[in-house]
Amino acid sequence: MEIIADIPVRKTNHSSISEVDFNKLEFGKYIADHMLVCDYAGGEWKQPQIVPYGNLSLSPSALALHYGQTVFEGMKAFRMHDGRINIFRMEKHYDRFVKSLQRMCMAVPTKDIFMDGLVQLISVDEAWVPTQQGHALYLRPFVFASEARFGVKVSDEYRFIIFTGPVPALYADPIKVKVETNYIRAARGGTGFAKCGGNYGASFLPTQNARLAGYDQVLWTDAKENKFIEESGMMNVMFVINDTLVTAPLSDSILDGVTRDSLLTLANDMGYKTEERAIAITELEQAFKSGTITEAFGAGTAAVVAPIKTININGIDCMLPEYDENKLMFTLKNKLEQIRLGMEADVHGWNYII
Ligand SMILES: Cc1ncc(COP(=O)(O)O)c(C=O)c1O
Repeated sequence: MEIIADIPVRKTNHSSISEVDFNKLEFGKYIADHMLVCDYAGGEWKQPQIVPYGNLSLSPSALALHYGQTVFEGMKAFRMHDGRINIFRMEKHYDRFVKSLQRMCMAVPTKDIFMDGLVQLISVDEAWVPTQQGHALYLRPFVFASEARFGVKVSDEYRFIIFTGPVPALYADPIKVKVETNYIRAARGGTGFAKCGGNYGASFLPTQNARLAGYDQVLWTDAKENKFIEESGMMNVMFVINDTLVTAPLSDSILDGVTRDSLLTLANDMGYKTEERAIAITELEQAFKSGTITEAFGAGTAAVVAPIKTININGIDCMLPEYDENKLMFTLKNKLEQIRLGMEADVHGWNYII
């Protein structure tokens, strides 16, 4: 089918925007008035619709609820300095969405449904895009298996939904992380590179254990030997060792983070040394001993960079030096934010301006 041009809109009569204090946003608390819904059945995507945000009616036997065919994206739209709205790196998010869906054997919404859907949904809820600097409209596209059937099978029916919600700038306090060597997040040949629900469900228990032990997040290690750093809970991880920005290489057990890619690109543009290579836990231990590790941080859409102050390795807390605004992570973060706001040239074509 795929008739998208002007997506039909059914507007809400009860906007909840007046209930939102845009100066006191909390991540994940508020949801904008409308959502996009598009069904897949009979081998094709139907006409998308924009409707008031609300509960779904779903069969208890919907396959996603049992066998985990569910994939999502997390991305943001920003209010630029001139008031226009910018969807950041929409194409790269779409490409990752496609890879995730293919891995989970799910129907893939066309690029037009994804992109036109986002643009038209954001246009309808334009008033929800915050004006405060650093705040954003978080965008959550996702697909789940909606076929009602309880035998284990690949679903023949899917629902694609996008909802959005305003989120604050996260000026995260430096976090404490614990290197995890008992549990694993993802194994070679598994689904680590896909943004599928099961990856997150499986990470909750080890993360909860780390929290009980006084840490904010786990640092995942490779599934085969538990020797190499992979990534963190909802972030890729980067280090500055010997003045070089170092991060684990992409593989099928690591999510291809859009922020990771953006920061690496900017660091290269600005002439910093970067390396995508395996990082052994023993190398980190050595770097702490010799004082050659000067920064560690998470990279992700939520906070851009999340400074790390402590890394627990084999039960020992290794402390990073105090951070100041001259650190590389903040230089890169500022550059990224300036590009998103339209204050610096977007030489890589990352901004999709509505
Ligand atoms: C497991 C995992 N790794 C890394 C990231 C960072 O990816 P991005 O920069 O695209 O937000 C995320 C967040 O989406 C994640 O869930």
